[in-house]
Amino acid sequence: MFPKRLKGMLDILPNESLFINFIINKFEEIVKLYNFSLIRTPILEYAELYYRSTGITSDIVNKEMYTFYDKKERLLALRPEGTPGVIRAIIENQLPIPQRVYYLGPMFRYEKPQKGRLREHYQLGLEIVGEKSPYSDFELIKIANHFFSEINLKDTLTLVNSIGCEKCRPKFKEVFLKYLQDKVESLCPDCQERKEKNPLRIFDCKNEKCQKIIKESPKVKDFLCNDCKNHFDRFLFYLEKSNIKYKIDENLVRGLDYYTKTTFEFISESLGEKISIGGGGRYDNLMKELGGPDTPCVGFALGLERVFYALKENKNFSMDNKNLMIIYDCEDSFWEAEKLANLLREKNISCYLNPDLESLKRQLKIADKLNIKYVIIIGEREREKGVYLLRDMISGKQEEIKKEEIIARLKELINV
Ligand code: HAM
Repeated sequence: MFPKRLKGMLDILPNESLFINFIINKFEEIVKLYNFSLIRTPILEYAELYYRSTGITSDIVNKEMYTFYDKKERLLALRPEGTPGVIRAIIENQLPIPQRVYYLGPMFRYEKPQKGRLREHYQLGLEIVGEKSPYSDFELIKIANHFFSEINLKDTLTLVNSIGCEKCRPKFKEVFLKYLQDKVESLCPDCQERKEKNPLRIFDCKNEKCQKIIKESPKVKDFLCNDCKNHFDRFLFYLEKSNIKYKIDENLVRGLDYYTKTTFEFISESLGEKISIGGGGRYDNLMKELGGPDTPCVGFALGLERVFYALKENKNFSMDNKNLMIIYDCEDSFWEAEKLANLLREKNISCYLNPDLESLKRQLKIADKLNIKYVIIIGEREREKGVYLLRDMISGKQEEIKKEEIIARLKELINV
């Protein structure tokens, strides 16, 4: 049998990769304006890294991690997320703090594949290490929104919350467990387990019955200690002063163990609230817990495929990527075509020249199949007259252009 693609994994095809690259390039361009530098960490790490950071009670580690033993019986994991590897690398390489880093790359989660949920997805992430001000939390949201606006993704909304710290959470836990006391039977089996191990995680459950229980329940945001409350109020103050569209979502606890204080997610109205295009928050304890210095951190990651789907839903771009093809009618015309192709590339204009000599009619068919917008035809007649024939493949209109005017005309037509 033909070996097919694994379930939940994508092939990014050439016509899509142009836009995928556009998204990645814009992200890099923008984050560099805010002083972030690229960090690349391995896709494979010791599984223990994720047990100790993402957390053994998180679905990501508990149910979704791709783990295996290597030839020396070491338990390894394909990274399910970028944050733990980045923090490990900063500690291990003793990078100076503060540090602002970004990363790009594939993540693996053995999830049930469905709309927007893949087993291999690609993240664009940012981590700010060593800044405790709520301005940093706000600045990340500002950067994400700057990026959304640059890629023309217009329908985004930022959801925000605070889940407190190790000082205020025990009080909330006590009240929350009391609230759950007579509702345990109605919780789904997963949440019955969560109640024992990490009750906050119940807020993350998508089960309808659990959602109902959560709706009426006390909220962690109302139990914040002074430090967490001041941090959150200041963060909201910065948001208020900006033009960023945001909403407080008191149920937003995020599915990873390391968060403290601020949590946030980005959604796109066209994909709906359930499929976040990105998320993150503050995690002031992780670095210390992994053996590094006591350092406040905050970050987020965007799901590249989800940003791409959202853009597609928004219909703010076209997937056509090839603009120009040169076709010719004989060997002599081919050399003329090649000369022109070289000149165009010198002038930064991309073009396609197929070296297999075929009839003009057949070459026009190829251009059509490839969605080419403009074709330059070079035949014996054009060579004799010293012109090129430029054909608009959509309207079918043709114009004769003097050789020396071709670059200027193309620059008018094609956005270069
Ligand atoms: P996360 O919310 O688990 O956070 O993932 C970040 C983003 O990756 C999600 O909002 C979503 O867009 C995308 N994503 C996650 N899982 C999938 C999937 N199965 N299929 C497609 N896309 C997916 C983190 O990973 C944290 N490390 C973010 C962070 C950075 N927090 C602090 N710093």
